[in-house]
Amino acid sequence: MDILHYQQEFLKYLTSKNWVQEPKNLYEPVDYILQLGGKRIRPVLTLMSADIFGKDYQKALPAALSVEVFHNFTLVHDDIMDDAPLRRGKPTVHEKWDINTAILSGDAMLILAYQYFENYKPAVFQKLAKLFSKTALEVCDGQQLDVDFETRKDVTIDDYMNMIRLKTSVLVAAALKMGAIVAEANDENADLIYDFGLNLGLAFQLQDDYLDTFGDPETFGKQVGGDIIENKKTFLYLKALEVADADAKKKLKYLYRKKLKENSLKIIDVTRIFRIHDIPLLVTQEIESYTEKAFNTLSKMDVSASNKQKLKDFGLWLMNRTV
Ligand code: IPE
Ligand code: IPE
Ligand code: MG
Ligand code: MG
Ligand code: MG
Repeated sequence: MDILHYQQEFLKYLTSKNWVQEPKNLYEPVDYILQLGGKRIRPVLTLMSADIFGKDYQKALPAALSVEVFHNFTLVHDDIMDDAPLRRGKPTVHEKWDINTAILSGDAMLILAYQYFENYKPAVFQKLAKLFSKTALEVCDGQQLDVDFETRKDVTIDDYMNMIRLKTSVLVAAALKMGAIVAEANDENADLIYDFGLNLGLAFQLQDDYLDTFGDPETFGKQVGGDIIENKKTFLYLKALEVADADAKKKLKYLYRKKLKENSLKIIDVTRIFRIHDIPLLVTQEIESYTEKAFNTLSKMDVSASNKQKLKDFGLWLMNRTV
């Protein structure tokens, strides 16, 4: 089955649920963010993984929904933390409603996400819940580091890679492992698909950071330049500091010193420095290298070549995205 098919099946399941209950002010934002679209990468991975390990993928739908609801919860809170106006081309929850609504609706989503595990028998439930709790805490760790880095002056590329592993990769990896758990795959395969997800997740976040500056505002769906406005110490920034001459380095550090009210000139200046120093090429090479690393873990996995190809196709599809 191809990616589109999994996406459609997942969407059918998601829209079959009645999201809006009382009190409306709590659940309407949940419905809004979940129906807003998005690539549905994580639930697709859960379904694909269950399929690859020989289980009817329909059995993995509750776990897939759990991962997607959790992901959307992190986005609602992340958009507050990043002061982001746009998500998937539409106003963010805290902009459309207010911050308090976004906090509580987000909290409710986190709890809903756990609830879907009740669809599984105790042995599977326990494994899913254990992985999920560990993953959710790691995402919190990553999000805190991401915010801490905004004002820290000593962040290294290694620090950054560790931060994105926590805030992003572990969830991609867990989405895949959950499919393996539902399919009751052996531990070795479950761990290998988790490792595949970790490296794919690193490539994915590197690309998210690339698109944040160099994406097409028409298709990206988020505010282009948002990371620059927020002084995010992304790979783009850290690599530029590494390769730039002394003057550009000084300028870059100066520009990331504080937050401004008006950012158009800052975005132009920073983007120019990135371009002059070949950052688009350097980050693209890094994305390819982590995607390649992900593919290498597949060779050790005990599944058919055609199933490995499915995971590869997914990785290649992900690399070519514009949203
Ligand atoms: C955005 O995730 C947050 C990151 C971890 C980069 P996605 O790019 O998967 O967002 P949607 O769900 O497709 O909108
Ligand atoms: C998102 O990182 C990570 C989580 C939401 C956990 P970003 O802050 O880069 O995600 P976007 O760009 O807002 O989607
Ligand atoms: Mg953000
Ligand atoms: Mg963020
Ligand atoms: Mg981003």
